[in-house]
Amino acid sequence: MAVNVWDLEAQAKARIDRAAWDYYASGADDQVTLRANRAAFERLALHYRVLVDVAQRRLDTEVLGQRVAMPLLVAPTAFQRMAHPDGELATARAAGAAGTVMILSTLSTTPVEAVTAAASGPVWFQLYVYRDRGATEALVRRVEAAGCRALVLTVDAPLLGKREADVRNGFRVPPGLTIENIQAEGAGAMPAAAGGSGLAAYFADLLDPALTWETVEWLRSITALPVLIKGVVRADDAARAAERGVAGIVVSNHGGRQLDTSPATIDVLGPIADAVDGRAELLLDGGVRRGTDVIKALALGAKAALIGRPVLWGLGAGGEAGVAEVLGLLRREIDLAMALCGCPEVAAVTRDLVAPPSPR
Ligand code: FNR
Ligand code: LAC
Repeated sequence: MAVNVWDLEAQAKARIDRAAWDYYASGADDQVTLRANRAAFERLALHYRVLVDVAQRRLDTEVLGQRVAMPLLVAPTAFQRMAHPDGELATARAAGAAGTVMILSTLSTTPVEAVTAAASGPVWFQLYVYRDRGATEALVRRVEAAGCRALVLTVDAPLLGKREADVRNGFRVPPGLTIENIQAEGAGAMPAAAGGSGLAAYFADLLDPALTWETVEWLRSITALPVLIKGVVRADDAARAAERGVAGIVVSNHGGRQLDTSPATIDVLGPIADAVDGRAELLLDGGVRRGTDVIKALALGAKAALIGRPVLWGLGAGGEAGVAEVLGLLRREIDLAMALCGCPEVAAVTRDLVAPPSPR
């Protein structure tokens, strides 16, 4: 039985192949940011309100105008079939059943059409921009046709961060799995060359390291879907994104996998919310493992939080049922945290919970 997501982490670790586990678990370099994401949540106190009637609680909310059953979404993570044969299909089914959004990675090991067909909830698509813009545009058309409801442009990975376990393991996607959605464009596999991280080589060879704010405009010009950018940690970048008309910003350091020693996401959310001032919706990920973490993200200005690794833990522990367990556990923790904070609904989770006003 799992009492918290850490229990599922332990179960998954026992079941998943070692090199795949290392890939999932790693942060970049010394993993300072990986730890900082957690430490910053743990440092932040929740100043709960008392004597509020919390007999009835509602966790549902809206992100980009789409109703979700709780303020917790599934972050995009690559290669989910390494964790369980059902991979992205299991995640889509569990996310739909939980009434929330799944963000599907460009580096999915299942075709997007199969994922949207399996999903009963909204699927958004995380986009990596390839040097081959034609191939990238074809990918956008494909995910639109498949019924994805938003595009999440990842902007913190012009090159892949140095995950040292992957370098040592010579990480490659295992035989039999391919990067399905870009296979037709000739980018379905990692270079076979010996040594180092195959994924780092894939990024260096195929992805465009020259993205700029004009790329955001280009993407907005070729699609009618709402565009979010993912991987922002600075208030000035967030303000610029809002000026460029993005629908949303994912405050993220890629789960500590890109630039090591970048700041913990929860520490930068407040200033970003102030700079954006409601012009775009904010989401946050990085180290979200408890219901109280989600409350802290909402209090500091996010509409919802995202989880990356915990979904992989659920997959590894038990496929669709395991992901459902992760989402169910966190839902119950969010509900309890709201009750104990004196918040009968999501709208009641306001900034004073982390920064209480002092009476005069
Ligand atoms: C990721 N992340 C990620 N992000 C993205 O935009 N595209 C991707 O393909 C992936 N792939 C990926 C694989 C794995 C194994 C991990 C752990 C992460 C980053 C992800 O969307 C998210 O930002 C972090 O995972 C959030 O941090 P936590 O919840 O894992 O701490
Ligand atoms: C990662 C990439 C795929 O973090 O986003 O491994």
